[in-house]
Amino acid sequence: MAIASAPAKIILFGEHAVVYGIPALAAPVSALRAYAETIPNAEHGIRIDAPEIGASLPVGFDTETVDNALELTVRLVLREVGVTPPDIAVRLRSQIPIASGMGSGAAVSTALARSICAYLDVSLTDDMLNHMIFEVEKLHHGTPSGIDNTVVVYEKPVFFVRGQQPEVLRVGAPIKLLIGDTGHPSSTRDAVSGVRALYEAESQHVGGIFDTIREITLTVRHDIERGAIDRLGEQMTRNHALLRDLTVSSPQLDALVDAAMQAGALGAKLSGGGRGGIMIALVDDRGRSAVEQALRAAGAVNVTATEVT
Ligand code: PMV
Repeated sequence: MAIASAPAKIILFGEHAVVYGIPALAAPVSALRAYAETIPNAEHGIRIDAPEIGASLPVGFDTETVDNALELTVRLVLREVGVTPPDIAVRLRSQIPIASGMGSGAAVSTALARSICAYLDVSLTDDMLNHMIFEVEKLHHGTPSGIDNTVVVYEKPVFFVRGQQPEVLRVGAPIKLLIGDTGHPSSTRDAVSGVRALYEAESQHVGGIFDTIREITLTVRHDIERGAIDRLGEQMTRNHALLRDLTVSSPQLDALVDAAMQAGALGAKLSGGGRGGIMIALVDDRGRSAVEQALRAAGAVNVTATEVT
């Protein structure tokens, strides 16, 4: 038996703009994880079971192409390590809400790949795995920036620019956040194509929004590195307003952001693909429980505390 896991992620600044080459900052949420457990299969072949969503999937090797992310993950792993398909059953479970901006797809695929490698006693470097999960992300998202797989695989806060080697983000003082989940799943692929359509229709206006997001990300990077956390809040709220202009917020996300601010959060914004999913609120120890209560009262189905360090 071989068990492996991978964390959820949150984007702190720069989602959507990152698809267009603007820098973004993101961090793992190590307390929320996806797990995969590989055991011998009594029958011939490979089977993936996800009992939480009632799925059981045989992995086939007959076709050229594959449109299932889990199946693609298994095929890529076995090809990379040069092993003929073993008789195994992999059981998946995850604490990460699906389609909520927390990188659930990347985390499940990463845990799956690691568990199979551990079972087969072969090793895959994080660089190789990152490359592989990026290929899988293309099935989920169409044109992913690569930020999800990068944070999930390396499990470190990053300063990320599409197509460049990610830089580990030095965090001068802990960033205390509450993650509020609207409970509304949302397709990142749809949100990304919505932004693309807007960019094509209003390139100057949207280009201006991206430029402002770039300026925000570069400023906060510096503040985070020197531990000037109190300065982040205002920029988070600014980033949220720009994401709203990009049409990727939702009434539920706006309600959670407003509730957090009224309850004393230092800043708040949606995080990830948007149009549903999660938002994050910057809190200090004094204000934390009031903000948590306010988020729940405003409709958050889940509130998770996390620290970026
Ligand atoms: O919704 P998530 O967790 O997949 O995050 C998507 C982040 C985007 O910037 C919207 C897309 C991307 O590929 O970077």
